[in-house]
Amino acid sequence: MALARDPEAGQEQRDSADQSFDYMFKLLIIGNSSVGKTSFLFRFADASFTSAFISTVGIDFKVKTVCRNDKRFKLQIWDTAGQERYRTITTAYYRGAMGFLLMYDITSQESFSAVQDWATQIKTNSWGNAQVVLVGNKLDLEDDRKVPTEDAQRLATELGFQFFEASAKDNVNVKQVFDKLVDVICERMNESVNGDASPSANHKEGGLKDIPRSGCAC
Ligand code: GTP
Ligand code: MG
Repeated sequence: MALARDPEAGQEQRDSADQSFDYMFKLLIIGNSSVGKTSFLFRFADASFTSAFISTVGIDFKVKTVCRNDKRFKLQIWDTAGQERYRTITTAYYRGAMGFLLMYDITSQESFSAVQDWATQIKTNSWGNAQVVLVGNKLDLEDDRKVPTEDAQRLATELGFQFFEASAKDNVNVKQVFDKLVDVICERMNESVNGDASPSANHKEGGLKDIPRSGCAC
């Protein structure tokens, strides 16, 4: 994967040029290296999976349009490198993101222990109202599980995050994670336009097109 890509390049240029959508959301996938971020995105966007591990270099993205409640949402999904040495590059992309998939591997206690640090990165580098889904990936490896579901659910509740366990390999809860993230972003937007939250200027920079005047009709 490239170190960083121009959103208007290659195949995505054609996808990005697709104007038949109601809203555009910029999302980021973050978490330790090898938890399955790239695999999760490929499963969602391309319906594919490979067991080969090619660690992401820098950052890349894919575009996918989904339908929720009779509205079309164009998702620009950024896949970040988990390796520490790319942290400066990847955190630069947090600003303007409307939602995060914070991923750990249920067979890796280390990746789960890092969740708090990743949450701090979100708080430090993103706009205040970004929505987060905590995702415990590799659910197909139940026999090797190191992170109990209850521990992760408790942490997610403490942090105010949604929570799913999932498998990119077996295609379990992949679409559901993205659907939930779209739903909670919509809920937050509705609260914002109703005056319950204070949207920042960054909100508009997050790729939101066509901000609804009276809620997003979700
Ligand atoms: P970085 O790019 O280094 O940050 O890693 P990543 O989080 O993008 O990990 P990646 O998607 O490249 O996956 C790492 C390894 O885990 C690969 O060998 C994948 O095939 C494997 N993997 C990913 N998701 C799953 C899953 O749901 N189940 C199983 N069993 N393996 C998975
Ligand atoms: Mg990757």
